[in-house]
Amino acid sequence: MIVLLSQTKLPDSSNPLSDIVGAVQINIVDYGCGQAIASLALLSYLEKYVNCESFTLNFHLIEPSQTTLDLAVLLVTKMSSRIAANVTIHPYHKDLECFLKEDSEVLGAADYSMHLFSNVLDIAEVQQQIPRLCEYLHSVEGKQMVIAVGPQYSNNYQGFQQLKCSLSDLTVKQDVADFSVESEIYSVTRNHWKHERSYGVMMGLCFKNISTASQTAFAA
Ligand SMILES: C[S@@+](CC[C@H](N)C(=O)[O-])C[C@H]1O[C@@H](n2cnc3c(N)ncnc32)[C@H](O)[C@@H]1O
Repeated sequence: MIVLLSQTKLPDSSNPLSDIVGAVQINIVDYGCGQAIASLALLSYLEKYVNCESFTLNFHLIEPSQTTLDLAVLLVTKMSSRIAANVTIHPYHKDLECFLKEDSEVLGAADYSMHLFSNVLDIAEVQQQIPRLCEYLHSVEGKQMVIAVGPQYSNNYQGFQQLKCSLSDLTVKQDVADFSVESEIYSVTRNHWKHERSYGVMMGLCFKNISTASQTAFAA
């Protein structure tokens, strides 16, 4: 997730251009967020690399497990307090299908919308929603970023390819690719830390949707 974020150019308010641009509104949608690891990785990246004084970050956390969602809200709240941005958190206790049916209008106008898929595109119920999900992703106004990660196995590659092929007018920032990271994993059975490598697959896509008003004017 951090590797992909480093390839994504977010406006930095330490850059004089931000003084001209002014406040930056960013939507972050974390699909099947679990404990919000992807959102936390984004916050960790912002804390380290970006001066986000002029940022408003609107987190939308979608998760069918209430217990896990509660933890996600708590962790994102805690971690947000470490950065200067104005942060709002919107939890959705539901699966992707219900979110797309009931809440597809909830994203407010923003300069950027980031769509985070961490370890979820391998799930059959999520894959079934990809056509509807792509309609939704193309209905959100402004610049869109799709960031996906997951472990290396066939269902994940399948989900990544389905999502990529169902979106149109894309800029592929990072095509579906393997990666590996050093990791420290605690072994409960052996009671010690194991130094290992974890193997994953990632993808980063960008596109820009024209506003509904422009679409209407274009069609007229
Ligand atoms: C492997 S976990 C990944 C959690 C988190 N994104 C992460 O990377 O740590 C998969 C998550 O997807 C959620 N999930 C399962 N089916 C789903 C569905 N149909 N729509 C949305 N989320 C779903 C599960 O509750 C679980 O939290």
